[in-house]
Amino acid sequence: MPAYLRKVALLGKPILLVDGYAGPGVFDDGEPGSPLIMCSAAEKYVKSQYSALFVNHNPSHHNKLQEILVKQGWNSRAKAILGDSSQLLNILSTQLRDQTVFVYLDPFGLKGCEFNTLKPFLTRSNQFSTEIVINMSMPITHRLAAPKAKAEGRENDPRITSNRNRMTKVFGGDYWQEIYFSDMLAGEKEFAVMEEYRNLISQYLPYTGSCPVRESTSSRIKYFITFASRHIDAMLLLNDEMCKAYFGQMHEADFGDLPLFANTNWQSFRTSKQLDSIVIAILKKNPGIKRKALWELIIQEHFMKFTASEYKESVKNLAGRTTGERIIVTYTETNRLNDNCGLLFTDT
Ligand SMILES: C[S@@+](CC[C@H](N)C(=O)[O-])C[C@H]1O[C@@H](n2cnc3c(N)ncnc32)[C@H](O)[C@@H]1O
Repeated sequence: MPAYLRKVALLGKPILLVDGYAGPGVFDDGEPGSPLIMCSAAEKYVKSQYSALFVNHNPSHHNKLQEILVKQGWNSRAKAILGDSSQLLNILSTQLRDQTVFVYLDPFGLKGCEFNTLKPFLTRSNQFSTEIVINMSMPITHRLAAPKAKAEGRENDPRITSNRNRMTKVFGGDYWQEIYFSDMLAGEKEFAVMEEYRNLISQYLPYTGSCPVRESTSSRIKYFITFASRHIDAMLLLNDEMCKAYFGQMHEADFGDLPLFANTNWQSFRTSKQLDSIVIAILKKNPGIKRKALWELIIQEHFMKFTASEYKESVKNLAGRTTGERIIVTYTETNRLNDNCGLLFTDT
């Protein structure tokens, strides 16, 4: 939120933050929930420029959140709304003008993530700034898809039909069937369906990416956080944020309680080998490309795998080689390696 808000503040438009499935504002363990995270950042960075809408259909969540907003003195700018989010989002989308809009959807399960709910925001003119972040639960997709229904002779069960219709509504098409009815592993299906989903969304907002959320490397994915934006900067920012968050959490879960690894962090075991090969492969196809533009291409193909500083380090090392596969810097304004430098691959 801080980086996003600081950036969109410069557009000079009113900023509207919408949390469609807001929850009570604090979790049972006292950790702040999404409305608090959004509001504290907005109060700090765009105090006089923002308004926020937090929707709940559960009255006790609504009341608790309302109380917090009043107590913090945020309630003139941030409104808790009791009602059904799909309806509210539908009405809201017809009222938008030139606001900079951030929509966060985090329902339980899949109900509330229907593609038609997103569509009015996806189809906003790209003159205006629109960002969507959506949390989509994964375990439930397998139950709703019911891949074994045919073999078990239950294909005409109305519940199966209705669940499958829900999948089609959420994913915005029936492409999920080919994936879920295949013999891929469950995790592979999840990545595959999210990729197709992002392809669909990117017809409207071109820059999209997803981060899987799970307890540890060996556990199943609980949900995917997916974002969509009209601007590459959102992707650049979230690439690094999601990479650090994901691999940081995985490291903590996999090694956190092992004394041998007490002094390590998620970066301790990273190697540059894979990134170097990717840099070279994409550079070969784009001779003369500037360093920044090359990074933008890399994150579009390999979202969340590497950070910007790892990339810069890789380019620096490849440019420092004197033989073998390496980078030649063809253009520099300042004699220093920076984003505007032109790069070329060579192995001669
Ligand atoms: C996963 S929780 C949200 C947690 C929140 N994003 C956070 O980080 O603190 C989902 C919330 O959405 C509410 N909800 C579910 N369906 C809804 C609907 N159709 N309209 C409004 N709120 C709904 C649930 O009651 C619950 O409070």
